Amino acid sequence: MNDLQREVNKRRTFAIISHPDAGKTTLTEKMLLLGGAIRTAGSVKAKKSAKFATSDWMELEKQRGISVTSSVMQFEYEGYKINILDTPGHQDFSEDTYRTLMAVDSVVMILDVAKGVEPQTIKLFKVCSERGIPIFTFINKLDRHGKEPLELFEEIEAVLGIESTPMNYPIGMGPTFRGVYDRSDKTIEYYGEDRDEQTSREVSDYEELQAQLSNNTDEATIDQLIEDLRLLDEAGNPFDLDAVMKGKQTPVFFGSAISSFGVPTFLKHFLRMAPPPASRQSSKGTVHPDDEEFSGFIFKIQANMDPAHRDRVAFLRICSGKFEKGMETWLHRTGKSMKLSQPQQFFADSRAAVEEAYAGDIVGLYDPGVYQIGDTICGSKNTFDFGRLPMFPPEHFAKIRPKNAMKHKQYVKGIEQLAQEGAIQVYRTPKFEETILGAVGQLQFDVFLYRMEHEYGVDLLMERWPYQLARWVVKGEVPDKDTRSDTRMLIHDYRGRPVLLFKNEFSMNWFLDHNPDMELADSPASVPE
Ligand code: G4P
Repeated sequence: MNDLQREVNKRRTFAIISHPDAGKTTLTEKMLLLGGAIRTAGSVKAKKSAKFATSDWMELEKQRGISVTSSVMQFEYEGYKINILDTPGHQDFSEDTYRTLMAVDSVVMILDVAKGVEPQTIKLFKVCSERGIPIFTFINKLDRHGKEPLELFEEIEAVLGIESTPMNYPIGMGPTFRGVYDRSDKTIEYYGEDRDEQTSREVSDYEELQAQLSNNTDEATIDQLIEDLRLLDEAGNPFDLDAVMKGKQTPVFFGSAISSFGVPTFLKHFLRMAPPPASRQSSKGTVHPDDEEFSGFIFKIQANMDPAHRDRVAFLRICSGKFEKGMETWLHRTGKSMKLSQPQQFFADSRAAVEEAYAGDIVGLYDPGVYQIGDTICGSKNTFDFGRLPMFPPEHFAKIRPKNAMKHKQYVKGIEQLAQEGAIQVYRTPKFEETILGAVGQLQFDVFLYRMEHEYGVDLLMERWPYQLARWVVKGEVPDKDTRSDTRMLIHDYRGRPVLLFKNEFSMNWFLDHNPDMELADSPASVPE
C-alpha cells in the first residue's frame, strides 16, 4: 500500500441526516468530543448563533435563526480522518442540503425514538437511497419513552423501504433505560445509576445476560428483552454487509446522545463498516480515489461567509489523488488552468490554510465568481467531467420582476449568476415569458431577494405561488385547458422542458386520473433527451 492509498483508506466522509430536533447537533458534538476536536459540550450549538453575528448577511441569518458556519468539520479518531458534512435543516433547508449528500460516501440517519421516521428524514433518505450509499441508523433519546424497537424496524421498512438490522438492542426505555445489548460483540453496555458512566461486560449467552441484568433491571424488562432478541435471531434480517454497502440494509443502533450513551460504540462500529472514499464515474470512465491524478467537484457555493469581504466559498470534494498547496489545476468547463486560491480546511472551531488534502476531504476555495455548482477540477490539462449534479424538485414557487424597469440588465445578470451558482432554479411561463423561481427551501427566496438587492442593486417584486409539487412531463401533451388554474400551472425549465406545478398531491392525482396518457416524473433525469 502506498502513502496515497493509506491516506485514502483512513478517510470517512459522511453526513448526518435527520428531521429537526432528533439530535443531529448533539450527536455531532459528542463525536467531536470523543475525537478531542472540541473540549466542552455546547460549542457547536453556541457557534450556530454567536459567530459572525455582526454582518448584515448574518443579520438575515440571525433573524431566521439559521447557521452556515459549521458546513464541514474534520477530526481524527482512532486512526481515522473523519469529515462530517452538515445538512442544514430547519428553515435553512435548501438545495444545498441535498447537494451535500452528493459529496459523502455514507450517511448516519438519526431518528427520535418517540417520533420515528419524520418528513424531512424521508426526503433526505430518498436522495441517499437513489445514490445507493450506505445508511447507518442511530435511534436517539432512549432516556425518554418512545416507540417499541420492533415497531420502529417495521416503520423503517414500511416508510423508507429499506431492510433494517439492529446491531444493538435497548434494555428498557425512558426511566427504566439500563443500557444496550450489543448483538455482534455479545456485550452489555450499562448505564450507571446517575447516568454519567458506562461500563460494559461480555456475556456468553442469553442465560448469562438474564443473570447479569437481574440485579438492576426489573423482570418484565428482562423478559421482554430476551423475547425480542430471540425473535430477532429467528425472524429478523440477518446482518449483510454487502447489502449495507449497497444501501439496501441499514444497521440500527440505539442510544442517548445527550448523555453520550451508546455514542462510542456506535462510532466504533460505524467507522469499521463505513466505506472509505468511493470510486466515481466520469466522462473518462471510473475515477478511483487512489488514482495519482488529482480531481474533485464543487458541490456547494456559499455566499458571504466572511462578512468583511463580499466573497464566496466554493466547497470542493476531492475525488482522487492528493491536493497540495499552490498546485496547478484545470477547470473542465473552461479548460483554463488556475491555482486554487486560498484553499481552506474546516475544523470544529476554526478554519486553516490547507497544505495537503486527499480524496475524501473537503476543501473550501475562495471564489471570486469563477465556479459553478457541479464544476469538475482536474490535476492535468486533459480534463474530464463528473457530470452535472442532479436537480432537486422545488417545493416553493414565486413570480418575480424588477421594481424598476431601468434595472433590467442587472436583473438578468443577477438571475443568471445566482441560478448558475445553484442558489435558485429559474423557470418561465410559456406565453408571457414571466420569470418563475423555484426553491427547495423557502429561505432561498429571502436570500435571493437580499442578494439581488445588495449584490446587483435590484429591488424585486415577488408574488408567491400556492403550488408545492413540480413534475416534469415525460410523456403526453398537457391539454390547453389544463395549463393554468388554481391547482396547476404549466411552466418551462431552463432547457424549455415542460414542468407541471400542482397545489398538492390531490390535485396531481386528479389531473393524472383525467389524463391517463400522461406520464410525469419528479426530476428531469427521467425526461427523454
Ligand atoms: P438537531 O440538531 O437535530 O435539531 O437536534 P439537537 O441536537 O439540537 O437536539 C434537539 C433537542 O433534543 C435538544 O433539546 C437536545 O438537548 C435534545 N436531545 C438531544 N439528544 C437527546 C437525548 O439523547 N435525550 C434527550 N432527552 N434529549 C436529547 P433542546 O431543549 O431543544 O435544546 P437544549 O436547550 O437542550 O440545547
